[in-house]
Amino acid sequence: MKEIINVGIKVRKTDVISCETDLLAIGRFSGEKKPDKIIAELDGKLGGAIEKMIKLGDFAGKEGTGATIYGNGTIGARRILLIGLGEEKKATLDTLRKAAAYAANKAVAIKAKKMNVALHAAFGRRFDAADMARVMAEGVYFGSYRYDEFVTESENGRLGSLEVEMIDSEQAKIKMLEKGLVDGLIIGKMQSYARTLANRPANVISPARLAEEAQKLAKSTTRVSCTVLDEKEVAAKGMGGLSAVGAGSQNKPRFIVLKYKPANRSANSLPTIALVGKAITFDSGGIDIKPSANMEQMKLDKSGGIAVLSAVKAAAEMKLPVNLYGIVPSAENLPSGSSYRPGDIVITFSGKTVEVQNTDAEGRMILCDALSYAVKQNCDVIIDIATLTGACMVALGQYMAGLMGNDEKLIKQIQAAAEESGEKVWPMPSGDEYAKEMKSKIADLKNVGSRWGGACTGAAFLRQFVDDRKWAHLDIAGMDMIEKSTEYSAEGASGFGVRLLTTYLMNVVKKSKK
Ligand code: BES
Ligand code: ZN
Ligand code: ZN
Repeated sequence: MKEIINVGIKVRKTDVISCETDLLAIGRFSGEKKPDKIIAELDGKLGGAIEKMIKLGDFAGKEGTGATIYGNGTIGARRILLIGLGEEKKATLDTLRKAAAYAANKAVAIKAKKMNVALHAAFGRRFDAADMARVMAEGVYFGSYRYDEFVTESENGRLGSLEVEMIDSEQAKIKMLEKGLVDGLIIGKMQSYARTLANRPANVISPARLAEEAQKLAKSTTRVSCTVLDEKEVAAKGMGGLSAVGAGSQNKPRFIVLKYKPANRSANSLPTIALVGKAITFDSGGIDIKPSANMEQMKLDKSGGIAVLSAVKAAAEMKLPVNLYGIVPSAENLPSGSSYRPGDIVITFSGKTVEVQNTDAEGRMILCDALSYAVKQNCDVIIDIATLTGACMVALGQYMAGLMGNDEKLIKQIQAAAEESGEKVWPMPSGDEYAKEMKSKIADLKNVGSRWGGACTGAAFLRQFVDDRKWAHLDIAGMDMIEKSTEYSAEGASGFGVRLLTTYLMNVVKKSKK
């Protein structure tokens, strides 16, 4: 896939005074009494312009704020972008990631061709330099991302390219920055890839086209293979949930499986992890059709599945020693003469029967087959990610994803990965009370519970299909989309889950090495 904006990132040994650039991004914490070394050096050349600005109260270092100071010919930079880092004692790696996103977003907005980043300097030795380079690269991709592939008459022409350099004057730091940049480039690029795939509308990405994309992805990645079941094979295998949901559309369902096997000879002793993602290319609700307001946003109902494809590719490119499955059931949920109906009883891949009470609760109908598939492949750990319920969005807003599961340790690991990746989660229940609501009088299960606790009953339904495996569920409804552009990002698909899942996988590897 062509990148929308061609972003290149390198590391270079140089100092803030001499580097030639359109934009030099530096950071400052709030409440700092005296300038740090970098700001003092620059300010010496600029006749104290930075300190004057701060004294006047135009910039206080608050997170999410920035100020531009123009070069005066005595330094290489044409502009300095001073970015607020908030309170120093609250700073995390995500503070740095967001500062880099802020800078890159701004660089694209002003059409800078070249940006230099020295944001990590303010953090001193607080974090490992490799980690800092990784998160800065992730932030640069996140902030510079734009989706314009179908805009033919943009006022300003296509967006072109942005060349980024992370700079430091210490040789020892340069080595570490370079090391971290390798992972940062992989994760950042894959998140942008996920955003572009998700942003593509349903007339461009059907289940079959998504499967082709997965096949392309596998071909371009060593040790990743891809298997696709078409609608006939899906039906023949007995994946009744996926068949039912896909029945109403001309665009037939697909069951997509990516498999990554590491080169490591001891691969057989490594745990097998399954990432399972919902990929409804468009969710109209089906016969229980949704109201028309905002229905166009339901092209993003494939975001979980796309996060899975992207995370598997990222893990493979980083050569992580884990056995990994990416399992992505994909269908289009439309009303027609061939649609599944409210009242239908469906036999799922597990053999369990489900009474359909609402055709708009289609995510769980396709995921249950994918979860059973993961169990049959003998996966030790199963993590699913899905834009599953509006109820989750009502509960948590658009700030964090719901996290459910059946294993405390796995939940803690995902919470830790969320902290690190800046893709936040909040724990929610899905136990017996909720499972009871999903019992049907005429089948084993029904696909909706009572009016209350919809995110929890949705998860409790999925729980019935994971057997005794360690399982976690991420409800990302509300997180799939950035509704309005922010200082960190353009609007549209967020790529949520790519950083969270890859960080989880990287941590699993780190743990097993210890
Ligand atoms: N894809 C939707 C959930 C959703 C809503 C995602 C808003 C993103 C933003 C899902 O398939 C759905 O429609 N769920 C129903 C379930 C209900 C019928 C039990 C819902 O949330 O209303
Ligand atoms: Zn739905
Ligand atoms: Zn849906």
